[in-house]
Formats: sequence, C-alpha cells, structure tokens
Amino acid sequence: MTDSIRVTGGAPLRGEIHVRGAKNFVSKAMVAALLGSTPSMLRNTPEIRDVTVVSALLRLHGVVVDYDVDAGTLALDTSTLIAADAEHIAQHAGSSRIPILLCGPLLHRLGEAVIPDLGGCRIGDRPIDFHLEILQKFGAVVTEREDGLHLSAPNGLHGIKHTLSYPSVGATEQLLLTAVMADGITRLENAAVEPEIKDLIDVLQKMGAIISVDTDRSLTIEGVRSMHGFDHTALADRIEVGSWACAALATGGDIFVEGAQQRTMGAFLNVFRKVGGEFEVGPEGIRFFHPGGDLKPIALQTDVHPGFMTDWQQPLVVALTQAKGLSIVHETVYEQRFGFTTALIAMGAQVQLFRECLGDRTCRFGQRNFKHSAVISGPTPLTAADIEVPDLRGGFSHLIAALAAEGTSTVSGIGIIDRGYENFRGKLAALGATVE
Ligand code: EPZ
Repeated sequence: MTDSIRVTGGAPLRGEIHVRGAKNFVSKAMVAALLGSTPSMLRNTPEIRDVTVVSALLRLHGVVVDYDVDAGTLALDTSTLIAADAEHIAQHAGSSRIPILLCGPLLHRLGEAVIPDLGGCRIGDRPIDFHLEILQKFGAVVTEREDGLHLSAPNGLHGIKHTLSYPSVGATEQLLLTAVMADGITRLENAAVEPEIKDLIDVLQKMGAIISVDTDRSLTIEGVRSMHGFDHTALADRIEVGSWACAALATGGDIFVEGAQQRTMGAFLNVFRKVGGEFEVGPEGIRFFHPGGDLKPIALQTDVHPGFMTDWQQPLVVALTQAKGLSIVHETVYEQRFGFTTALIAMGAQVQLFRECLGDRTCRFGQRNFKHSAVISGPTPLTAADIEVPDLRGGFSHLIAALAAEGTSTVSGIGIIDRGYENFRGKLAALGATVE
C-alpha cells in the first residue's frame, strides 16, 4: 500500500458509512483484559493500527488474541500470561502511548512490567509524569533503563488518595487499571469522565471491580482480589463520527454515519448546529448535512468532557474556513495542536495563531509561549496542494481540506491515518470522493 493519495476535491461527499468502536476505548479494554484470569470478548472492534499494535504487545505477554475483522470480535485469552522479553518489548518503542497503561495490570498479574518508550501523535510534549506519580504512590518501583521503564512492586500495590492537577484521560485510566486490584480503597479527585472512560469502568465492573463515580468528578474504587474476563460491545468512535460530520460540512455534503451515538456527542452536535450544519438522529445512526446557505462563525474552546473535545478541533477548523466571518478556537488540552493549519494556509485558508488565550477563559498554556488560539477568517476557497500528514487528526483534516479544495492534491504520510480511521479509503470511495 502506498503512503500517499491523490484527492480531487470540490465535490460534496454524499452517502452512507459505518463507524465501529472507539480507538480510545478499544485499546484500553484490551489492556483491561490482562486483569482477568479468564478469557474476554470485545465486540465492535475496528480494524485500525492501534488494535494491531496492542495485540502484538499482548501476544508478547502470552495472550492468545483472535480477531475476526468482519464480525468485529476480538477474543483475548489471558490464562497463559507470561512476562515478555524486554528486548522484544523495546521493538515496540514509539508505536503507541497505550503501553504505559499495561503497568498496573502486569504488576498485579506478574509482579513486574517492562514498558517501551512511548509513541503517539506529536501534538505537544505529552509527558507521563501523572502516570508515574500515581504508580509510585500505589507502591510501584520504577527504574528507567535504556530499553524502557522497568517496574516492580516488592511490597504489593495499595489503595491511594490522589487529586489530578488536570483531568488527564490516560492518568485516570492508569489509576483505574491499578486501583481495581490494589489492596484497600482508592479515591481520585478531578478525574477525567470521558465516555470512553465510562465504558472502561463498565468493562472493569463486568470483570468484578467495585467502582463508584460521583457527580463531582471523583472516583472511589474498592480493590478486589481477583477479576475475570468480560464480554463487551465498544461504544462508537465519536471522534471518527465528528470527523466525517465535518467532512460533510466542509464539502457541502450529506453523510449518514451508521453507528453514531448521540449520547456521546452532545457538545459536538451543539457546535455543528450553531455553525449552520444540520443533523438528524435516527435509531441506527446520525445523518449530517450542509443545508445550503452560509455557514456561521463561532467562538469555542476545547475542553475535557463534557466540553468540546480537542480531537474534534482539527476537522472542525477546516469546516470553519468555509464559514462567513471570524471564528475563534482556543485549544486548552494540548499546547501545540494547530500545526496542521500551515497546510490549510498554503491551500488558501486565512488562519492566524496567537499565544494568548482568546475567549472567555484562560488556560494552562496562556503564559507559556504556545500558539494555542486560532482566528479563522472565512469563507476562503481552498485550492489543491501537496501536503504531508502531521498527526492522526491533523492528517484527516488535511484530507477534508483536499476534498473541499478545487483541483487535485497529493496527501502524503497517510499511513498515520490508519492508526485511528478504519478503512478510510473505502469510506471515501463510498461517499463518492475522487481518490487514487
Ligand atoms: C487521550 O490521550 C487520547 N488518546 C487523545 O486522543 C485525546 O486527545 C486525549 O486523551 C484527550 O481527550 C488515547 O486515548 C490513546 P491526556 P491522553 O492524558 O490520555 C497532559 C487521538 O488523536 N498530561 O488527557 O494521552 C497532556 O500533556 C488522541 O485519538 C500531563 O501533563 O491525554 C495534555 O496536555 C490524541 N502529564 C493533557 O494532560 C501526564 O502524565 C491531557 O492529556 C499526562 C497528561
């Protein structure tokens, strides 16, 4: 498969596609399976590279992974769990950020864990200090070596009281995956409560965990001695749904996304409506369409759930280049998530980046010299260009821009998009896109 595609844009995307389970849940549920002494079954699993990467890591630990792509069923038998060879683990360095979440489950089941250097999208520093602090509080001993992080728990893992300085998704998952089998009670304040985390909590509860979620973003977990496998159907990928919705808006199209779930997309649907898009929620999915007329500008900031999620920001910005007037987007989750706008500007968009927090609230990045606010002036016709995909969501946004632009663009580095968008080439074809 080549790593670039030629996209001839300027025509609306129209048709129907199907979206399966959420990348940012499925990979975590696969890690949770390690906690169970009996096999697990994950349904609605998409064929994306993150699933392949995590499957490979689990296999290194003796897990029998059996994926039926068409059925979307992923069977995970963890009864033969073994410690993986550090050299083999190191070969996975840079492939994903998921391995850091293996720490708690491996410490519980094997008493030790080796974690490769992490990967993931280059959208900011993406440190793991929250994760390490939590693991050490539970009693883990962490040693940094050339081949990665080595962890042990000589005195076992014990429940903790912890407050996150920022409601990090990964750190909340780290705590959950460690606390469920730690000795005693764990309490977390300022937890992230994204729908993917709620689904992970459901999985852990099915496995035998005792977890309560309070309305004030706090979690209480009573540790249990043993856990068993689960059978669970993954929630739909709301980031992928939002991405296709923005593609419909930017191209003046009409896309029915089968599998889309309204309950996980409230903030997105409000914004979609405010900028002039229309949608119809049905029992099988959501239809997103451009009703004609001008799109309207908007001022918004990205936020943790239940706010407008950062991963919707990039595709939305492409649609905002077609809105009439000035839009302001304040990115408060990642300090460097506007790199993708360089390509949009080359295609004719008018986007200015600012170090200040624009909008009604300041954020962690305001005093730190990061260009994390954008002013988008539209509508600007986009023209074809040769563009290089910078990261997963930025890459999909480039594709949307190319689809909206007059002429033929070459988009390179599209392999990154396979990390999180299942069969996007097939879906583009189904929507009538001219792509080679
Ligand atoms: C998850 O990343 C997702 N990835 C991201 O999706 C998503 O953008 C993000 O959550 C926010 O919703 C996966 O689920 C695999 P965080 P995660 O910890 O858990 C800072 C995509 O395109 N932080 O909530 O890594 C961090 O730098 C990806 O699908 C620390 O400072 O995100 C960021 O500014 C991209 N120290 C903020 O917290 C830490 O130890 C939020 O990050 C951890 C995080």
